[in-house]
Amino acid sequence: MTLVLHHTELLRSSHLIDGRWCGEPTHEVTDPADGSLVAHVPDGRAADARAAADAAHAAFAGWRQVPARQRAALLKRWHNLVMAHQDDLGRLISREQGKPLAEGQGEVAYAASYIEWFAEQATRANGEVIPSPVRGRRLMALREPVGVVAVITPWNFPAAMIARKIAPALAAGCTVVAKPAEDTPLTALALAALAQQAGLPAGVLNVVTASRERTPEVVDAWLDDDRVRKLSFTGSTPVGMHLARRSADTLKKLSLELGGNAPFIVFDDADLDAAVEGLMQAKFRNGGQTCVCPNRVYVHDAVHDRFVERLAARVGALRVGPAADPSSQIGPMINARAVDKIERHVQDAVARGAQVVVGGRRLQVGGSSGHWYAPTVLVGATPDMACACEETFGPVVPVTRFTDEAAVVAEANATPYGLAAYFYTQNAQRIWRVADALETGIVGINEGALAAEAAPFGGVKHSGYGREGSVHGLDDYQHIKYVCQGGLA
Ligand code: SIN
Repeated sequence: MTLVLHHTELLRSSHLIDGRWCGEPTHEVTDPADGSLVAHVPDGRAADARAAADAAHAAFAGWRQVPARQRAALLKRWHNLVMAHQDDLGRLISREQGKPLAEGQGEVAYAASYIEWFAEQATRANGEVIPSPVRGRRLMALREPVGVVAVITPWNFPAAMIARKIAPALAAGCTVVAKPAEDTPLTALALAALAQQAGLPAGVLNVVTASRERTPEVVDAWLDDDRVRKLSFTGSTPVGMHLARRSADTLKKLSLELGGNAPFIVFDDADLDAAVEGLMQAKFRNGGQTCVCPNRVYVHDAVHDRFVERLAARVGALRVGPAADPSSQIGPMINARAVDKIERHVQDAVARGAQVVVGGRRLQVGGSSGHWYAPTVLVGATPDMACACEETFGPVVPVTRFTDEAAVVAEANATPYGLAAYFYTQNAQRIWRVADALETGIVGINEGALAAEAAPFGGVKHSGYGREGSVHGLDDYQHIKYVCQGGLA
């Protein structure tokens, strides 16, 4: 797919540090659909990371003093520019990440919704006046920005994940050093260019790009830097745990949005058409490469065969193809490692007794050297299979038959992860019994599309902590200062 942008200035190939675009572009960004070169960006070093932290630290003193209404107005301008460039940004996302163009453009609106939301929240960061336990004192709890925030984002949503970290940070009065994923840095740079165009002062937002090999060098520079007071990360649980351990010496505040292993339960009283529809939405968004994707599907014995038949018909009809083809519904996987993992999961499931109903193989699309895997339905999945224990992060639906509510809820919870869970039932008592029993940060009841800027996104257990979006999203970027004034009696 050739990258044709209406506004070519959105295609940036440098770091943004202290308001200047700098760095030698040596790291290749390629299109996962065919391996073709999209652009080069710099392969950052510790010195770049330190320069970014210097700039963010210097800018913090001024930015925190900017009145909330002005910060909000600036975020609004950024939001409007993002939406004005929706088409270009969607193309950029689709080219470097691979998702179909309509999804890429949808992601731009999703990302922008967080910017708009936090523009509004900026003006509502109220503190508290606390009834004093003794005469003559006034007790107050004030909200303050935590300081410089390091933002480390994944490749699956190149715009939305960075927007929903940067927007609350800026709204709270923090300054930012950001490192986008090595596979998808171009969207982040384009968003930063638009933030600059919106009038963001130099140093308030800094973006450093790096290859997979150099990423630890960049991130370590921020981890070791006491001036970086918070780290917000979306990615795998092992990396999140490593970052938490490494943040201990400087006691950084952390937001960790980590791996998931979402169960999707279809009870015998479910509306089966709605359940199939919900599963298609939740599972195949971004080709199955989302943390909240159903990873394990449990279907009651009484409706199992009918459900699988309808599901298989829908999955078999999905059109797999490059982003450039408007009929594509599933794009390529992000890289060769991703396809290797999906293939390993399917082969392991089959070796342990699962049957392939649809798909179950790599695909060659257009004779290209892209990273393709066929949308797949497996039946007869069991808890010992890799696809039940690890996040597959691809278009594979492993289905398990069940008969008992308590047993299926116990199995749904029998994982270290706790990001999202879904279930379909028409029974009102069961709805609350199961919603209460599921050990996850997010629960979908008769609904497959859960994400919204107004809702709190985040997990429990090994899926991390902190919440993004919603009225709680700003809290992660603030601390509470207790102020006590005496001598008032
Ligand atoms: C994710 O996959 O981490 C985010 C998905 C979402 O925002 O819905």
